[in-house]
This record gives sequence, structure tokens and C-alpha cells, in this order.
Amino acid sequence: MFCIERIEKDRDEEALLEMAELEKETFPDSWSRKSLEETLRNPQAVMFGAWKEEVLAGYVIFYYAADEGEIARIAVRDAFRRKGAARRLLLRLEELCKELGVSRLLLDVRESNGPAIAFYVGYGFKKDGIRKKFYVNPVEDAILMSYKVV
Ligand SMILES: CC(C)(COP(=O)(O)OP(=O)(O)OC[C@H]1O[C@@H](n2cnc3c(N)ncnc32)[C@H](O)[C@@H]1OP(=O)(O)O)[C@@H](O)C(=O)NCCC(=O)NCCS
Repeated sequence: MFCIERIEKDRDEEALLEMAELEKETFPDSWSRKSLEETLRNPQAVMFGAWKEEVLAGYVIFYYAADEGEIARIAVRDAFRRKGAARRLLLRLEELCKELGVSRLLLDVRESNGPAIAFYVGYGFKKDGIRKKFYVNPVEDAILMSYKVV
């Protein structure tokens, strides 16, 4: 079982380092520790981490404005995948959305990212459309998805 907690600026230096490491392993456009720290200072951004004992297994980064929110990042370490960490992170995020009055979650995902698409569809996200050549390095279309928080 994972422990889901909000990542806080003043106490989670170690978490930021672990996130930056996982970013590097996972995404071609990885965010550095510095950009993660800047994101944490943004009052419209929230990060949750999933810990297994002392290890950060995964995290989600979320931005919101008025009644809409965007999942900017979600990642789980290889060794901890398919154990429910990402699902637990989204459940916690949904609770926060309800507290904040956010009624719609949006995201974009590379069309070749089968595991993430299966995860989002399984969670209840709907496909809204495609944004052509949205990503670079490599160039690829994005699938746009949304989820209604009820
Ligand atoms: C997508 C990702 C975050 C899922 O994390 P996870 O912790 O393994 O997901 P969960 O264990 O919570 O999965 C919940 C359900 O989603 C679906 N799912 C998750 N990964 C899947 C996969 N690889 N293939 C098919 N279905 C999958 C399953 O229905 C799963 O339930 P089950 O294991 O009981 O069958 C993880 O694969 C990851 O970090 N990928 C790399 C980063 C990434 O692509 N992020 C998204 C960018 S938009």
C-alpha cells in the first residue's frame, strides 16, 4: 500500500531530487529539480507523492484555474508499476478537486503511450480529440482527454 501525501516546498527537498531523477528516466523533456522547485512555488500548482516506506514511488503534478485543472505529469517508477500507485494519486487529486471546486480535469498524452492511455481510460477519462504534432522530440500527435469530477 502506498502513502499519498502532498509534496511541500519547505520539507521535501529529498522528494524533489527523487522526482527529478524519475523525470529523467521517464520523459524525453524531463523537468529539472530547479523547474520542479519553481512549480512548487506556483500557488496554482499542486504535487502529490506516493511513498512506499521511504521511497518515492511516483507523483502527480497538477495545475488549476477556476473550475478546470490539468494533469501536467504523472509518473511511477518502473519497479512500482501496476500496483495501484497512479490510481491512488488520482483518487487523492480528485478529493482535492472537490475541495477546490474543480469540476473538470484535462490532460494530453502521446498517442503512442499505450500504458498511460489504458490507465486514463480505465480511470474514466474520455478522449476529446487530437492535437496534431503537439509534441517534439520525437514529433507526435497528442490525444486530448478529460474527466468530469462529480
Ligand atoms: C501510466 C502510469 C503512470 C501508470 O502507473 P501505475 O501506478 O502503474 O498504474 P496503476 O497500477 O494505478 O494502474 C491502474 C490501472 O490502469 C491500467 N493500466 C496501468 N498501466 C497499464 C499498462 N501498462 N497496460 C494496460 N493497462 C494499464 C490497468 O487497468 C490498471 O489496473 P490493473 O493493474 O488492476 O489492471 C505508469 O505506467 C507510468 O509512470 N508511465 C510512464 C510515465 C507516463 O507515461 N506518464 C503519463 C504521461 S501523459
